[in-house]
Amino acid sequence: MCGIIGVVGETNSTQAVDVLLSGLKALEYRGYDSAGMFVAGPEGGLVKAVGEIVNLEEEVTSKGEAFAGPSGIAHTRWATHGEPTVENAHPHTDMTEQLHIVHNGIIENYQSLKEGLSAQGMQFSTRTDTEVLAKLIGAHYEGDLLKAVRSALTMVRGAYGLAAMHAAHPDEIVVARLGSPIVIGVAEDAHYVASDSSALLPYTKRMVYLDDGDVAHLTATSYHVATLEGTARELAPETIEGDTEAVQKGGFEHFMLKEIMEGPQVVRDTLRGRLLSDNAKLGGLEPLLPEITSLKRLTIAACGTACLAGHTARYWLEEYAGIPVEVELASEYRYKTNWPEKNHALLAITQSGETADTLAAVREAKELGMLTLGVVNVVGSTIARETDAGVYNHAGPEVAVASTKAFISQLVVLALITMLVGRESKHLSRVQSAELVDALTALPKAIETVLKTAEQVKAVAEKYAQYEHMMFIGRHSHAPIAAEGALKLKEISYIHAEAYAAGELKHGPIALLDENFPVLALAPHDSVYEKTVSNIEEVKARKAPLIVVVNKGDTEAARLADDVIEVPKVHPLLQPIISVIPLHLFAYYVGTKKGFNVDRPRNLAKSVTVE
Ligand code: G6P
Repeated sequence: MCGIIGVVGETNSTQAVDVLLSGLKALEYRGYDSAGMFVAGPEGGLVKAVGEIVNLEEEVTSKGEAFAGPSGIAHTRWATHGEPTVENAHPHTDMTEQLHIVHNGIIENYQSLKEGLSAQGMQFSTRTDTEVLAKLIGAHYEGDLLKAVRSALTMVRGAYGLAAMHAAHPDEIVVARLGSPIVIGVAEDAHYVASDSSALLPYTKRMVYLDDGDVAHLTATSYHVATLEGTARELAPETIEGDTEAVQKGGFEHFMLKEIMEGPQVVRDTLRGRLLSDNAKLGGLEPLLPEITSLKRLTIAACGTACLAGHTARYWLEEYAGIPVEVELASEYRYKTNWPEKNHALLAITQSGETADTLAAVREAKELGMLTLGVVNVVGSTIARETDAGVYNHAGPEVAVASTKAFISQLVVLALITMLVGRESKHLSRVQSAELVDALTALPKAIETVLKTAEQVKAVAEKYAQYEHMMFIGRHSHAPIAAEGALKLKEISYIHAEAYAAGELKHGPIALLDENFPVLALAPHDSVYEKTVSNIEEVKARKAPLIVVVNKGDTEAARLADDVIEVPKVHPLLQPIISVIPLHLFAYYVGTKKGFNVDRPRNLAKSVTVE
């Protein structure tokens, strides 16, 4: 939610514009309502534009080579306070227009701060909280930028990831973090700042992750971190893995399609080094294994697609690991009354590791004295660091806003956790877990088979792109997969889509169905197949156009359907991982048929760092 990038280089370098533009492109998934940059020095200045980064790039290019400098800060915005306009775009400035800041987060007490500053005669040109913060820092500036940021922040309530520059100190950036991620990139002749390390990978792999309450001072050759109160903190750089290629489109028209197509490789990467002949090996959980295997209850907290991974895994953990599980929307968890018990843990599932609601759930659980675990994709992210133990997905960077490959890898990690706990607690026999190991090993090949049907799914999707509504149904562990199919369709095609556990249809939603309300039914050959077929009959009787996703060779469900998508039959625990792939493809092809930019759906951002 909003992306920040900054660089401070040697005086004779002219890199800032290129670094800022390429960084913004890498961070565009965090917001794309408007963008802007400030480049320090005599040839620099402030440039802003509404819309995607290409619009800012055009503005910058029109200024020619004369617009350059060694250092600068930039921002891509996802609007919270104030509409996406040029005035509201960052950087924001103080009264002197010398001090510039970019900010990710929300200043909760901005109204009262604004009243105080107005009483001192300050005028505001926007309704944003960030302009108030810029003017507040300006009001504290007496020639020392670091000091000004520090003393202004003591008055602020809310969340921020912040970078500030002052025209009088073109060779310094001050950054601060509370609640929104900030990473510093360390190189020989420059220091960088970003919301996410992937934006810095072209320049360095050495990263310093700030903690909440940290303030840092950067020059081309140094970085110093201290607490808000000024106590120095020794934070050494960590060297991270990853390459820039992983964040390129690689010949695909959209990141979303590329990421769906990466499914087999994602599963291989997620499984690498984690399969024994009849068990899983998860190094991150090992130190806490006795505690984890004696869990009496597990609460899963997550948002969006990650939450649907939790709902799917609930069936697995209850059936194969013998743990009672409840799945909570992270945005609700900390506002309800929670009753932690002995041997009760909270498991957060999150691609970004930065989702504010999920982080708040983790902190609530910690306060309640619960063990906290994480399934996280982004290495070094806040939730990865704040949970007691966890498992990284190793899915690589996910750029498209609609999560696809991260969902697949979340499910694979959750299957591994199920096996580990099930085996240790003897709910899963050695023979059963050996079967599961074989099925996981064969999973990438099965995904390859599904992906070969992409053209067929495309033809079906294009046939249904004209409808205004759609219903997704499934039972048991396929009920959350139906929900994922509906969520994906809503997100990127703006078609009204609902999902119900198939048996629930008759208790209300069936009233919606007619020849204009298509239904997609998930009917794999599982323990509830016959029940699902009965539900499909109910749909057919209401004349709703019907697509079914079935196992290869199916006749019963297929005979009722207008369109059939076949997927291979795999181990019942892993079947949802296979069934979801045509749904991701379906949403992708409906969205592209309708001409939408599926990588950047309207009103959404990939990493939601506000509550
Ligand atoms: C946003 C994204 C979703 C994602 C959710 C949770 O809403 O648009 O695709 O599932 O956040 O994100 P996380 O990074 O915690 O998995």
